[in-house]
Amino acid sequence: MKKVKLRYQKISDAKRFFEILNNPNYIYFSAKPKTIEEERKFLRANLQKRKNNLEYNYTILYGGQMVGGAGIKINQSRNYIGEIGYFVDEDFWGKGIATQVVKLLEKICFDELNLKRIEILPMPANKGSVRVAIKNNYKKEGLMKKVLKHLGKFEDAYLFAKVK
Ligand SMILES: CC(C)(COP(=O)(O)OP(=O)(O)OC[C@H]1O[C@@H](n2cnc3c(N)ncnc32)[C@H](O)[C@@H]1OP(=O)(O)O)[C@@H](O)C(=O)NCCC(=O)NCCS
Repeated sequence: MKKVKLRYQKISDAKRFFEILNNPNYIYFSAKPKTIEEERKFLRANLQKRKNNLEYNYTILYGGQMVGGAGIKINQSRNYIGEIGYFVDEDFWGKGIATQVVKLLEKICFDELNLKRIEILPMPANKGSVRVAIKNNYKKEGLMKKVLKHLGKFEDAYLFAKVK
């Protein structure tokens, strides 16, 4: 397997993220920028979000090539908890990339950000994402009812978590 790496997102990633995220097969993922400019705006906000300990967003590199994005959102009422998320370009699904990304994010969460608890909230129908959580030994703590707002509707999600 080629090496999976994470680096901070750059404004110049906007076009590629726009293409990856607008895949009609991304049915369980809510972030769909309408224009490249909208994506640039999101990327420009990243530095301030890091400084304010809100979000840490990364670009996924696979053998040096940009194939997706991932991030850590800090819980704003309990700042020792982070929620992680990830997406991979469909052309690269099934190669173990997201599984590897979770391992890398976990290191950042526990070793650099000193978090105590990491959560993953996949919709039950999102089998690939559920599998990624299970393969990384996250514990399924339950089903959170109507916790996600997705395409204008409130949806359930599993609560997967790992604690240090
Ligand atoms: C979910 C996602 C990130 C997985 O990325 P990936 O790099 O393909 O993941 P991996 O290759 O590390 O592992 C995927 C696992 O799910 C399994 N899988 C994928 N689709 C599946 C399905 N429909 N049913 C059952 N298992 C499935 C794969 O077989 C693999 O498990 P295995 O190694 O035991 O065979 C990717 O599909 C994606 O970007 N989806 C759109 C965005 C998204 O939904 N993100 C998650 C939001 S919670």
